[in-house]
Amino acid sequence: MADIFTGPEPDLAGLLAARPALEMHASAGLCFEGVPLNLIAERFCTPTWVYGAASIRARYATLTEAFAEAGLPLHIHYAVKANDHLAILSLLRHMGAGADIVSQGEFLRARRAGIAPAHIVFSGVGKSVPELEAVLAQGIGQINVESAEELDILSATATRLGLTARVVLRMNPDVDAGTHAKITTGLAENKFGIAREDIPALYAKGAGLPGIEMRGLALHIGSQILSPAPYETAYTIAAEMVRGLRAQGQSVSVLDLGGGLGIGYHDEPGMNPAAFAAVVRKTVGDLGVRLVLEPGRYLVGPAGLLLASVLLEKRTAKRFVVLDAAMNELMRPALYEAWHGILPVDAARFHHPQTPADVVGPVCESADCFAYDRALPDLPPSALVALLDAGAYGAVMSSPYNARPRAAAVLIDACTPHLITPRQTHEALWADEHIPGSEL
Ligand code: LLP
Repeated sequence: MADIFTGPEPDLAGLLAARPALEMHASAGLCFEGVPLNLIAERFCTPTWVYGAASIRARYATLTEAFAEAGLPLHIHYAVKANDHLAILSLLRHMGAGADIVSQGEFLRARRAGIAPAHIVFSGVGKSVPELEAVLAQGIGQINVESAEELDILSATATRLGLTARVVLRMNPDVDAGTHAKITTGLAENKFGIAREDIPALYAKGAGLPGIEMRGLALHIGSQILSPAPYETAYTIAAEMVRGLRAQGQSVSVLDLGGGLGIGYHDEPGMNPAAFAAVVRKTVGDLGVRLVLEPGRYLVGPAGLLLASVLLEKRTAKRFVVLDAAMNELMRPALYEAWHGILPVDAARFHHPQTPADVVGPVCESADCFAYDRALPDLPPSALVALLDAGAYGAVMSSPYNARPRAAAVLIDACTPHLITPRQTHEALWADEHIPGSEL
């Protein structure tokens, strides 16, 4: 995020060095997980999302190993919102992940990818009654309740269906996660969770409500968190709360630690899983609870890039590099001033002199800008560039604005690129639309 990272911008070599899945070959150019991006553009055109299966598996393994080494059994529920592609969900299911979902649509996606209902947790500040009915009827593992009002609605819904909802209360610990304001969730002013002081009474109430089985607590303080310090503060508060609830005679068997583990968009280190696991052990390791983690970005963010072509370079008072990708594909820079590395795919160009350029898309919005004043070599029409670390909150947040069809997506597995989403046709954009009184 531009506003929380204060270091110097990394150069092209620095960006490359920090990303082991990327390699620059003198003839083949930039390769991702062993596949030249030139080849992907030739076969599938641009813009195209490119994901790397080995990167996702490696990140999953690093996280689970850090917890195993800390002696902590961990249950990973992948935050589907980060990248909900069935191929990615299926890959993570095979690694052993459950799912953290925020809508019936995400529930159905997770189910379609083979994730068992018992391994799904339902988060979110607003869940509709039909959504609750659907997930309860399928035997969802856990519902994270975010308000007193929601607890009443859930109790009534479950009772009506003759079912029992396994509930954890999401506590808002009022801790500053030190991240971008638009992705901070654990402050009292945020809409998320239940105020600390209200938890004991609501927990006791829930324990007495029909259709509700109180299981424990959840918290999620924000996203793209690079330091373990705010987690330490939040989990210390959670541990005190668990002890307090138990002292009142309540049963607490689950602690859902949320997600938010940050990645290095520049060349700064991302969250260190071992340091994070150490904080978890220190703060909540002796509670004897089932520990649930809901990472999204950490698992898939660095495992994806957006491959784009240069349409033209335009020189006015400034230098503009106009790409065929736009904010409707990767929204993060426009929405959060997020910084994404941009690498030319051509090896020779890598060593050309660089001058500052704004890298923009063709959408009719000034906010359609991927990077301001980015040092880049000359990029002639049809030169390829890779927008890095776009595996999380990329494709999922895209829109068909300006009647731009959805981009293609490719998953590289064992050096083989698989087309996992074909490029949308223009006709598909309006296939569901009707003109009243017309046969069209
Ligand atoms: N659990 C809950 C309850 C969440 O709300 C989120 C993310 C996660 C887990 C996963 O967080 P992660 O591990 O991915 O940080 N679109 C924004 C990020 C929004 C995150 C929303 N909640 C972005 O592009 O930066």
